Amino acid sequence: MHNTYMTTEEKIIQLNKVAQEIKDFKGLDIAKNANHAVPGEGNPDAQIMMIGEAPGQVEDSTGRPFVGQSGQMMAKVLTGVTGLKREEVFITNIVKYRPPENRDPSIEEISACKNWLNRQIAIIQPRIIVTLGRFSMAKFIPDVTISQVHGHPRFFKFSTINHELTNYEPIIFPMYHPAAALRGTTVMNIFKDDFLKLKSLLVQKTKIEDNKLHGQLDIF
Ligand code: URA
Repeated sequence: MHNTYMTTEEKIIQLNKVAQEIKDFKGLDIAKNANHAVPGEGNPDAQIMMIGEAPGQVEDSTGRPFVGQSGQMMAKVLTGVTGLKREEVFITNIVKYRPPENRDPSIEEISACKNWLNRQIAIIQPRIIVTLGRFSMAKFIPDVTISQVHGHPRFFKFSTINHELTNYEPIIFPMYHPAAALRGTTVMNIFKDDFLKLKSLLVQKTKIEDNKLHGQLDIF
C-alpha cells in the first residue's frame, strides 16, 4: 500500500523534520558524543529502504549512512546486480549515532531511535524493506537467525500501536550485513546472491511468506 497522500515535497519536509530532531537530540550518551548524527538519506519515493545497524567511524565523521568500506561495497553490488543507484533507494540505520568502538547497540539506544525510524518508514512507505544484519532483522522478524531467513521475503504488518502504519504492509527482505560479507567469501557470495533475489523480487517473481503474526510483536 503506497503512500499516495503525500507529495514528494511533503515527504522531504517531513523527513527533514525527523532528521533535525535526530540531530538536536541529546538524550543518549552516544548522541552527546557523536561528531555527527546519521539520520539516513536517499530517495523520498524509494521503493526500497535499506536498514543497517548503527553508524561506524566514517559515517560519524560525515553524517551519512553506509559511506565507509562496507557501504561502498554494498552500493557497488546494489548497482551492479539490480541496476539501482544508491540515490534511488533510502538508506538508514536502527540507531542514528555511533556506538563507541562499534559495539552492539543497546536495547535503550534501539528503543530511543525507534520512533524516528518508524516515522521514516511511514513517510516513505517503501514496498520493500531490506534489513542488513541481525539488529535490523530483529525489528521485523524475532527469534530467527540470518542464516535461516536471509534472501527470503515475507510480508510484515506493524502493530496497531503504530497508527500511521496500520494499513501498510511492506515486504521484508533480510540480508547479511555488508561488513559480514567483507569478512569472508562464503558470506560475500550469499550477499551477492541475495541481491539477485532482491532484483527478481522487484519484478515480482519470488514466493513471499506471510509474517503477519510475527509482525504483531514489533518488539524493537
Ligand atoms: N554499518 C551500519 O550498520 N550502518 C552504517 O551506516 C555503516 C556501517
